[in-house]
Amino acid sequence: MGEHSSYGTDRIEAMFAKNIDLLHSTKNNNQTIVKKKFRLKNIFKLTSFLLKKLHKILPSLLKDLFFCLTVIHKSPSTKFFAKTRYDELRTLIDVKTSSTVLRSLTHDSYDDVVKTFKKGCYSTVLSDISELEPIINDVINYAKPSHAGARPFFKDGKNITINNSFSAYYDLSDKDCEKITSFLNNSLDGDFNQHLSALAGYKCKLKDISYSLGIVFGENSNSEMHQDTYSSIAKGFIYLQNIDSNDAPFEYLEGSYQDAAFRSSITNKAILEGDTHSAGSTRLRNNELEIALQKFKLNSFTGPRGTFVVANTAGYHRKGAHSSSKPRISLNFEIKRKGIFSKALINLVS
Ligand SMILES: [Fe+2]
Repeated sequence: MGEHSSYGTDRIEAMFAKNIDLLHSTKNNNQTIVKKKFRLKNIFKLTSFLLKKLHKILPSLLKDLFFCLTVIHKSPSTKFFAKTRYDELRTLIDVKTSSTVLRSLTHDSYDDVVKTFKKGCYSTVLSDISELEPIINDVINYAKPSHAGARPFFKDGKNITINNSFSAYYDLSDKDCEKITSFLNNSLDGDFNQHLSALAGYKCKLKDISYSLGIVFGENSNSEMHQDTYSSIAKGFIYLQNIDSNDAPFEYLEGSYQDAAFRSSITNKAILEGDTHSAGSTRLRNNELEIALQKFKLNSFTGPRGTFVVANTAGYHRKGAHSSSKPRISLNFEIKRKGIFSKALINLVS
């Protein structure tokens, strides 16, 4: 089937099979530019912009002191603090603060949402996602693909290129993002926002969020089991194809985010050994991976087209093995990250 006779997800599969360069072409039309301006305005509110700048230029010790409880500071900067319980304690404070979101739960959903909080992940199946196909069909025409952190090498400092690794992420326009949000709000169960809040660690809902279309093939830097950062954050994925164990399912170690002692010991070890290539998103390798797989239950999210997964990616996760001939195509999003003070305040007020 030619790329023009098929539509949406099928069209992407056909383009991939024919010539993946079609998906890497560098378009730069108006819609992308408009979107960038809009996002800059939104994301870089003055204070957060300045804080990020400050974090970049400050000496390591001052970073560790002043940015301890912020989202920007993904792991300790100094070996001095890596030898202490610094990272463990702030992780514990984050888990405790995030748990205050459970106080706002309604009675009928209480047990289910607490289960979601403890596991760190939630999934459901959206029965009909055909409404999303026009959006998927259009985005590869108007957006310019990026790698969004999925690199064709492992973040071990060796930079050895992984063969046949492909990843392209297309940011959807604000208009399309609104369409997806309203589709999800109509399709999901009434208690979904409570599950989402339990994973993000503060009272939130699907609103004003950006989605990207992810096309991934083979292995990449996300194939290694890792945490994204020390503090709870929620990321979501909607599978646009049927995904079985050969199709790079999202994999998650249930409850691992709560094990502050284990997680911080791995992070501290990486810092003390000078392994800073993963930039704070610590990887689990070899023996440590074996221990984690014994300690925590591995949940491999296989499922039909329309499977919707949200996870607290402070817990260990990875892109599962890919041995199929088709790329994995999904819609992805992340809920705005909040620091410990913001979480505490939002949860207190609500
Ligand atoms: Fe990740």
